[in-house]
Formats: sequence, C-alpha cells, structure tokens
Amino acid sequence: MTTRILVTYASRSGSTAEIAEAICAALTIPSPPPPNSANFREVLVDLLPMQDVQDLTPYQAVIAGSAIRGARWLPEAMQFIRSHQTSLRHKPFAMFTVCITLAMRNGEQYRTAVTNWTAPVRSLVRPLSEGLFAGMLDFTRLPTNWETLKLRATVAMGIFPRGDHRDWKAVRDWAESLKPMLTVPA
Ligand SMILES: Cc1cc2nc3c(=O)[nH]c(=O)nc-3n(C[C@H](O)[C@H](O)[C@H](O)COP(=O)(O)O)c2cc1C
Repeated sequence: MTTRILVTYASRSGSTAEIAEAICAALTIPSPPPPNSANFREVLVDLLPMQDVQDLTPYQAVIAGSAIRGARWLPEAMQFIRSHQTSLRHKPFAMFTVCITLAMRNGEQYRTAVTNWTAPVRSLVRPLSEGLFAGMLDFTRLPTNWETLKLRATVAMGIFPRGDHRDWKAVRDWAESLKPMLTVPA
C-alpha cells in the first residue's frame, strides 16, 4: 500500500518554500524497514505551493505552512485552509509557521505570541502538530516598497535581525516527529 502525503506552502520570498522542501525531503527518507515488510507502506510526498493545490482527495495526510506577514499567515494560506477545511478535518493534518520574531534575541519567549497568530487556522482545522520556525530576512529578495522600508527600520532599531536564521535540524526533527502520525502501518 502507498501513503500519499502533501506538503504545501505559502511563501513570498522563498524561505518558507525551502523549509517545505526540507520537510518533504525528511519525510521521503525511508524509515528502517520493519521486521515484517508485508506490513510496510510506501510513502510518496508531493510538494506544492498552496495556489497550485486543487484537490486533496489523493492525499492521506497534509502538512501546510505559511510565512508570517503582519502577525498573520499569508492571505493565500488562509484561503487554502478555508477552501479545504472540510477535507482537512478528515485526514491527519500538521501545520508550520515561519517568522522572524523567533530569530530575535530571546525569541523563544515569543512562542506563545506566535502561536496566537495562528489561532485563526486552528479555529478551522485542528492540527496534530504545529511547527514554529525562525525564517529569514534577506532584503535582496524583497521588493522596494513601503512594507520593506518599515521592515528595514525594525532591523535598524535592532528589533528584527537580518539574515538566514532557519534551524534545519529543528525542521528535520519536526518532520521526523510527524512520521508516526501521518503514516499508518498497513
Ligand atoms: C512585509 C513583511 C512583513 C513581515 N511581518 C512579520 C511579522 O509581523 N512578524 C514576524 O515575526 N515576521 C514578519 N516578517 C518576516 C517573515 O515572516 C520572514 O522573513 C519569513 O522568513 C518570510 O518567509 P518567505 O521567505 O517564505 O516569504 C515579515 C516579512 C515581510 C517581508
């Protein structure tokens, strides 16, 4: 039997997309074969931006993640959850969030605040697990506009740190922790 898992993401400057790729890669690495290989399911993992997802029917489990902007999931990510909430309620679902607050000095103390930002998602679909990850501020990947200028000001004031703060081990460990929840033995 084959288990198909969807890893889907909303990302504006690519850092969340790259975290989704790492989750996909971690889930794709086969676990050691169990003693009775007849009870083993093959796992196939698809990676798609949320806008490209039409139908969740082929998937036995879904992992969805978004970048944070203005203390919220991206609008297209909320749209994805709203559109697919009925289907998501009937399969194992995990979510992850990427933001720069967790990269701040003592950023761990803001985990509760960041969790509150994703309450609108949990009010629609209950995740089995929620990953919160520090992201990246790379101004070469951002357009020059008013929002970017405001962000530059927070960096100049020493509030948000620039650079890549993604903790790849934390991402892989989270993905690994999902395996028993998402893949049911045959
Ligand atoms: C316009 C803008 C607004 C942002 N607002 C927040 C915010 O409110 N809180 C936060 O922690 N991070 C905020 N961030 C940081 C992003 O969440 C972080 O850079 C993330 O890695 C971006 O993901 P992406 O590369 O997938 O778009 C903001 C970034 C941008 C560009």
